[in-house]
Amino acid sequence: MEALLTGLLARVAFTAIASLLSWRVWRFTIRPRFYPQEPKELPYWIPCKNRTTLEYFLPSREPFSMTIAGETIYIATSAKDVNDVWSSSKTISINPIAEQMHVAAGLSKEQANFLFQVHHEASYNVNKVKPVIPNQYFIELHHQQLHPGPELEELIKGSAVPSIIEHLNFPKGAHPAVIQKEGKAIIIEAYYGPKMLEMFPNLSKDFTEWEHVAWKLLFSLPSFLSGDMVTVKQNLFGSLATYLRLPRNERPDEAPFVTRIEDMLREHGFDEDLIGTCLFFHFWAINGNVYKLAFWLTAHLSQDPELMQQIREEVQPATKIGSIDDTFLSEKCPALSSLVDETLRLTVTSSLARQLLQTTVIGGKTLEKGRKIMLPIRGLHYDESIWGASPDTLHPKRFLENPKMAKNTSFRPWGGGHTLCPGRFLARRMVNVFVAELLSKYEIGVESNVFPRGDGARPAPGVIPWRKGDDVLLRLTPRGVRT
Ligand code: HEM
Repeated sequence: MEALLTGLLARVAFTAIASLLSWRVWRFTIRPRFYPQEPKELPYWIPCKNRTTLEYFLPSREPFSMTIAGETIYIATSAKDVNDVWSSSKTISINPIAEQMHVAAGLSKEQANFLFQVHHEASYNVNKVKPVIPNQYFIELHHQQLHPGPELEELIKGSAVPSIIEHLNFPKGAHPAVIQKEGKAIIIEAYYGPKMLEMFPNLSKDFTEWEHVAWKLLFSLPSFLSGDMVTVKQNLFGSLATYLRLPRNERPDEAPFVTRIEDMLREHGFDEDLIGTCLFFHFWAINGNVYKLAFWLTAHLSQDPELMQQIREEVQPATKIGSIDDTFLSEKCPALSSLVDETLRLTVTSSLARQLLQTTVIGGKTLEKGRKIMLPIRGLHYDESIWGASPDTLHPKRFLENPKMAKNTSFRPWGGGHTLCPGRFLARRMVNVFVAELLSKYEIGVESNVFPRGDGARPAPGVIPWRKGDDVLLRLTPRGVRT
């Protein structure tokens, strides 16, 4: 009896393994030969000794596919294919994904869909040759606010710069950290005036918390696994909605972007709660990256006294007591600019997502309508064939020695195509001012022993967050030499 059972078990095991192997050989070896126009599928088990999985599997860097939780998605790996995806905006778009995110955030399917349909009668479409959907109009409003011109100058010179100067004026011994987790947030104040933070002093703390849990929304985790995310989301949405309930004359300092987006959604009949939900995605894009870039810049600078001194000398002509010449920082500080670009190269490692509206050929492969495609920026920014050996090491003078690299198609910290980041001018100018103020006011010593590690496990759009607990402790000594 025992022998019979053992024999039966052996046969079952043999059949299972044989079926699995046959299926695997068919799916990953034979099938791709019959359908060479389809992207190869990444096998689940890949022998990879010292080489990375991708190098082993696809030295040609053609697009490939992967099946995750039953969904097949494509991955574009070469700079050319990533660019071709951006150029194919008629057939490959972010919109279906953005629409799903609005539903995940709490809008009904109809409300979310409304934002992605053209409304010819809307006042913003009157006399427009090419009417736009509300979601595209949001982006137009960002461009109006953020592209070089009077509105950007007002945002930067009227609010952000004075605020950075004030925040870096630490009363002796009073401040626990350069980058606060609580208290005032410079960009929130620039967009909403002082009122928002007076009403919700914990808003930046809530937002920092949101950054830790937002991946649960991106991955649409069920509510029983995402209670913390739902709580902080409700706090943030609630704060925006309550702010919008204030009469306009009680919030006179808000940026035109906020007023315009509210007007537009009210015209469509949205109430404060719905506007708050829509506004939140923009609140996230506006606030989510600059502080992280400032963090990584500070972390790198604090490790390298020679670099710190070089940048300090370069920015010195721009710094005076109580003011700063930010045009000088943008135009006459190539070492600072190179450091910012190199830090962006190392820290913008997220993958951008798109969906195929129509079947499209990318990199010689036919990508099917309805599927998603990921554009992993990390693959471009850490490509040894472009950046040389050790692409994961900071080389602060890289862009100074070779300024053309800033235009290389493998350098994409701001994304590309129609969705190129409209906040890039504001972000760069803010971090320039931050670094110049910090270095000119203080001698910096570092107290923590380890360099912070990026938290790649938490998908975050743009700059990578640092791991919880990996804060950088600095010792700041006033220099007192500014005139
Ligand atoms: C270090 C700072 C920043 C980095 C690295 C960054 C990076 C990016 C990237 C990679 C994208 C493309 C996303 C995609 O195509 O899927 C993007 C889009 C966007 N960014 Fe930024 N960003 C930064 C700061 C800002 C700021 C300060 C604002 C606003 C004040 C902003 C507003 C936006 C908006 C609205 C989009 C969407 C554009 C569109 O869909 O057309 N960003 N950003």
